[in-house]
Amino acid sequence: MPRAELLARVADADALIPVITDRVDDELLDAAPHLKIIANIGVGYDNIDAAAARKRGVMVTNTPNVLTDAVAELTWGLILGVTRRLAEGDRVIRAGNWNRWSFEFMLGAGLTGKQLGIIGGGRIGRAVAAKASAFGMSAVFARRERPGAAGEAVAPSSTGPEDIPLDRLLVTSDVISIHTPGGHATRHLIDRKALARMKRSAFLVNTARGSVVDEDALVWALGERLIAGAALDVFEHEPNVHPGLLSFDNVLLVPHLGSATRETRTAMADLAARNVIAVLSGNPPLTPVP
Ligand code: DGY
Repeated sequence: MPRAELLARVADADALIPVITDRVDDELLDAAPHLKIIANIGVGYDNIDAAAARKRGVMVTNTPNVLTDAVAELTWGLILGVTRRLAEGDRVIRAGNWNRWSFEFMLGAGLTGKQLGIIGGGRIGRAVAAKASAFGMSAVFARRERPGAAGEAVAPSSTGPEDIPLDRLLVTSDVISIHTPGGHATRHLIDRKALARMKRSAFLVNTARGSVVDEDALVWALGERLIAGAALDVFEHEPNVHPGLLSFDNVLLVPHLGSATRETRTAMADLAARNVIAVLSGNPPLTPVP
């Protein structure tokens, strides 16, 4: 819905079900004086000024759990895709550039015996890690405690012996996958300095939020061959993609498809609707944001 129409139509609304591209800020909250609940369709809610909503007594909910497996599956798709050059191979065939099988043609990187570094301590990171052993990989985590700033509170729900400091994860991992929330606290967590710490043979995967990776820095690191490649489902300025990324064959790009399965999107919409029904019936919401 265009912004102007949204602002007009919330005037009488008791509940709002936004998607992650809808900005819910002071302007929108001022335009919606009757609002009791904002039920975001998305686990990430950096599109919502949760503090501003809280100040007005408006409940905010998100859709955790129901999309965990879908995002974890896509993450593994990207890991395999970028390490084994799947999209690049597809382009080679479509361009008519495959002339014959040859021994050293389009060699990729294997996963067995390698280390997967997961940045973020939430459900999705753990679900990605749970599948690592199927590919013969070990998994380590960098789970950072963060202050509970609006829209980004993430205390790790568990820690374990596989927890290592972020710098150690950057230096030792063969594939690094980002699973933090977006927002101010994680903005450009992966910057020039972080990218320069990665192995030259390592791959970066991001299915979390585009803001976590400084795209200028990533283009620089790829140009300098400081890393082996990147696979991105999310971007700093969606739907715009940094033009520098388009020129690299070792970058796999997909258009924010993490939760995009029929089953998952249905479950997300259903959960958002159930949150609205709960709150408007005077009951506690099922999945309030922290
Ligand atoms: C989310 O739920 O935050 C996803 O990014 C939406 O696909």
